[in-house]
Parts: sequence; structure tokens; C-alpha cells
Amino acid sequence: MYRTHTCGELRMQNTGEEVTLSGWTDAKRDFGQLTFIDLRDRYGITQLVFDMDAQPELCNEARKIGREWVLLIKGIVRERSNKNPNRPTGEIEIDVFTLQVLNASKVPPFTIEENTDGGEEIRMKYRYLDIRRAPVKEKIIFRSKVAIETRKHLAEHGFIEIETPYLIKSTPEGARDFVVPSRMNPGQFYALPQSPQTFKQLLMVAGMDKYFQIVKCFRDEDLRADRQPEFTQIDCEMAFVVKEDILQTFEQLTRHLYKTVMGVELSDFPRMTYDEAMRRYGSDKPDLRFGMEFIELNDLAKGRGFPVFDQAELVVGISAKGQANKFSNKDIKKLTSWLQRPQIGAKGLVHVKWNEDGTIKSSVGKFFSDEQLKGWLEAMHARPGDMLLILAGDADPTRKQLSELRLEMAERMNLLDSKVVKPLWVIDFPLLEWDEDSQRFHAMHHPFTSPRKEDIELLNSSDRAVLSSIKADAYDLVINGAEIGGGSIRIHDRKIQMKTFHLLGFTDEEAESQFGFLMGAFEYGAPPHGGIAFGLDRLCAIMQGEKSIRDYIAFPKNNQGRDVMIDAPSPIDPDQLDELSLSLNLPIE
Ligand code: AMO
Repeated sequence: MYRTHTCGELRMQNTGEEVTLSGWTDAKRDFGQLTFIDLRDRYGITQLVFDMDAQPELCNEARKIGREWVLLIKGIVRERSNKNPNRPTGEIEIDVFTLQVLNASKVPPFTIEENTDGGEEIRMKYRYLDIRRAPVKEKIIFRSKVAIETRKHLAEHGFIEIETPYLIKSTPEGARDFVVPSRMNPGQFYALPQSPQTFKQLLMVAGMDKYFQIVKCFRDEDLRADRQPEFTQIDCEMAFVVKEDILQTFEQLTRHLYKTVMGVELSDFPRMTYDEAMRRYGSDKPDLRFGMEFIELNDLAKGRGFPVFDQAELVVGISAKGQANKFSNKDIKKLTSWLQRPQIGAKGLVHVKWNEDGTIKSSVGKFFSDEQLKGWLEAMHARPGDMLLILAGDADPTRKQLSELRLEMAERMNLLDSKVVKPLWVIDFPLLEWDEDSQRFHAMHHPFTSPRKEDIELLNSSDRAVLSSIKADAYDLVINGAEIGGGSIRIHDRKIQMKTFHLLGFTDEEAESQFGFLMGAFEYGAPPHGGIAFGLDRLCAIMQGEKSIRDYIAFPKNNQGRDVMIDAPSPIDPDQLDELSLSLNLPIE
């Protein structure tokens, strides 16, 4: 009754057919004699024509129609005289003979077009209107394709989809939990899962080898472009596997998704240890679309009388190709201030320019001869026209700062081509991370991650340096500098799990009360197992070269974690609080 075709469907071969279409008024052009309406639905846009001479009444009706009104029309498909090659339906139009307004619309608060005039906040408030815009709609459809292809591929490879509960007890994964009060258990709370980690491990003990789930996860953490408080994981676990099985399986899934959804054949998935990634790129998620690898200059730059270098644990730099004449002294000053912002925290920046004419200019020219600077340029494989950017200080922070600078330079040098896809497995992460503030170890991935087989004995050490050197059987998939997923081979032995909890500062009682259920399960024939989770929202954004995951989520939260459309979070009724035994008992003023 509402339609014989969609608004994206009709072509030249349909000319002469009588059709019925329904949709929204995307645009109206009133030329007096002729009125055109672009009718839009999820599938596309079709032009409607109303002719004053032929049908004056109908044409007058059409002239009254506003943006976003919902229409049902009947008409005849005909060839357009003025074709629009940018639209799949651009060769035809509909000569309308019946027009029915299904619903009028208020004037929308922003234009529903490719490039809208609406700011972020207003678009979030009227998200249902924003989703009508092609760029947002396309992203949501893209996500659906990725999810459907994921299901297809994993099912074809023997995975079964199992749902795990959302009302659980908290699992320590690094972020804070969202909690839910229990009415029937006054004073007690559920936590929303940060991931289904412990449940998927229990499913392995239950014999449900090859589990997957496309699952919502909840983390109460500070938000960024690539983080939402509720996001979705492609979560998997397999029994009787070693790291290699998991890397192969998920490399295949990634290839399948790029091929089926994007039509892109990925080449190799190189692997790099965490230590190597930190040394060469200062990051555990290096972007391999461009070079600018770190070169350490300790041997060439220390002990030559420049105090900043002499006192530093590490002198390390990158060579920016062809940038010597692109950065004036003022630009370098600006770059230095950018590096000195608290978010990055570098002390200063040393540069060496090797000009095209062969001359060398450096901010440390007073301390080093041209000969010495030439030595650095050679060590960094520079050529005339290149510029070295060098940082010095304690090794770890200096590497992180240089990593930020490397990315910033890549951005300025236009090296971040979203069409290039560079996957990388980062492996052999440290198992434990020392935290100065709390004076204890944290699990770098999560407490259920197994050390590499050859490192298990080291868990018995009490030497902090030895414990810090233990490598985990953990891996991350990085694409173009973004962490798409992470996982590990798990501990499946109660004693080793308990040992790990001790190292993380748990007492026997704490470990038992929080994770007794898991360690208990390990005593009933737990198989060796491991798994991984990809961030679905992130994967979609990276596949399309986008930084923000927000538009891949139909109804996302804003930067304050609010849904401004439904106005959540919000206070609740005092009676409801009472029922939950949560009365606020605020002091009476
Ligand atoms: P992890 O914590 O590394 O591992 O999470 C896996 C992937 O989930 C995505 N992700 C997020 N995406 C959007 N917003 C967020 N706030 C957010 N947090 C994480 C990332 C990340 O790589 N249970 C383990 C997996 C395992 O060991 O199997 C886990 O959750 O893409």
C-alpha cells in the first residue's frame, strides 16, 4: 500500500511504469510552472515533478509541502531532461498524479544534508534527525554489515554465539564499573560488565569451545573520540589453543571483513614485540603507514658537554623528510611549546636542519661541531632537506613524547593516508606494570592473562625488576596506530591464578571473595584456553579512516557521558530511591 519501490531503486528501464513511493521531503524547488520535490528514504532520493499546467490543484498542494514532511505519491516514471549523474536515480523522475501527506513536520532544527549546519549538541539532541543525514546513516549501515559479516565468518568457522549476563559482579579490567542497585537485596549492587571476560572463561570450562558474542560492554572512564561508556566488542574465546591459533583465526576474520565490506585485500600482518614497538616507535600501537622510526643517539650525543643530553638517560630523535625549509624558527618555537604542554610534558626540543645547500643549522650548534652533527644526520639516515627532531630525558617518558611528535609530524606532512591499511600484532606485553602511586603491580592486560610458558617460574620471584620483566602471552591487534583488539592465553590453573592475585596485592580472602567462582571452576577440569576481543565501534571507524566512533553508534553519549536526547542520567523519584534502599538522607536546610 505504501510503496511499490524504494526511493533509491528506479532507473531508466522503469520509464513508463506506474509506481507508488513513500518518503521524506528532502528538498523542494518551486519554479512557479514546475515544482520539484526530492523524496528521500533509507535507500536514496527520487525527484518528483508537479506541473501547474497539467495538474494545477496537485501542484498547489505540492507547493505547500515543507522539509521533512512524509509523503505518499503515485506517478509515472519518466526520463529526465536535466539528468543528475551524481545520483543513482538521476536519470529519471516521477510525474506525480496522486499526492498524500502522511505526516507534516516541524522545521528541523538543522539542515538534514550531507554537510549540516547543526552543532554537535543539537544533532545529539535530535539524533533521529541526524541519522536521516546520509553520512550518519551510511556509517550505521556500514556497522551493520561488519557485524553481519563477523557473525557469518565466525559461524562458518565453528564459533557459537552465547549471551552472557549484564547484571554481574565487578571484574577488574582497569576502568570503573557502572553499578545497579538491587531492590531485592538491599544495600547490594550488581555491576554492568566491562567485558564478559570471566564468563567466557567459564564457558571454556563448560566445554563450549569457540564462543563468540557481539556484546555491549560498560566502562565508567573518561571519554575520548575513540571511547564511549557503553561500546560493543566482538568477544571470542577458544579452548585447547596457543597464541598462534588465535592470531591466525582473527587475522582471517579481519581479512574477511576488509574484503567483504570494503573490497580491500590486506597484505601481511607483521608481528612486533612490545619492547621493540616501544624502542622503535615509543608506542605499543605504532602507526606503520609511515616511517620516521626512532634513532637513539646516546653514543653520539652524550658526553660532549651539552648538559641536557649529558644528564639524560636517553637521547632519541626522528628525521622528518624534506622539512628543513618548511619550519621557520618561529614554527619550531611553536612546536616546542606544543610539546611542552602538560598533556605531553617534554622539557624542550632540539632540531638539526640539513639545508638543501648542504649547510647545517641546529639549536645546539654551540655545543656540537658540524662534523658531529653530520654524524647524527648519518645515523638517522637523513638527506639534504631533512630535519632532525630530538628529545632527551628519562627513557620511558621521552619515548612517549617523541611518539606524540612523530604522529604530529606525520599529520603535518600528510602521511596519514586512510586508504592505506597497516595491521600489526603487538605481542609479548609485560605481564605486570608497577604503579608508583599505589606502590604495587597492576595487570597490564587483566589478571587472568597467563605469563609466557618460559616465564611462569619467574612468578615466584620477589625481586621487582624480575617481576617487571615477566612477559605475558598477550597480544593486541593494531591497525593504523589504533588498538582494535586485545587478548591473551589465560591462566587455567588455580595455583597460578592465586599467585597472580597475590602479586597484584590481593589477600587470599579478597581473591577468594571476588574470584572464588573462577578459581573454583579451574578445579573441575579447566582446559587450556585463550581469546581476544575486538572493539566493534573502533574497528568500523578505523576501516573507514575516521577518528571518532560516535557516528557508528546509533545513540551515543556526549563527552560528559550524557544522552542529551533522553536526558540521562537523571535524578530518580524519592520513592524509587527508597525502594532501592538508597534514600539520600540529605541534610535539611
Ligand atoms: P580490552 O580491554 O583490551 O580487552 O578491550 C578490547 C577492545 O575493546 C575496545 N574498547 C573500547 N571501545 C570503545 N570505547 C571504549 N571505552 C573501549 N574500551 C575498550 C578496544 C579494545 O581493544 N576482556 C578483554 C579481552 C580479552 O582478553 O579477550 C578486554 O576487554 O578496541
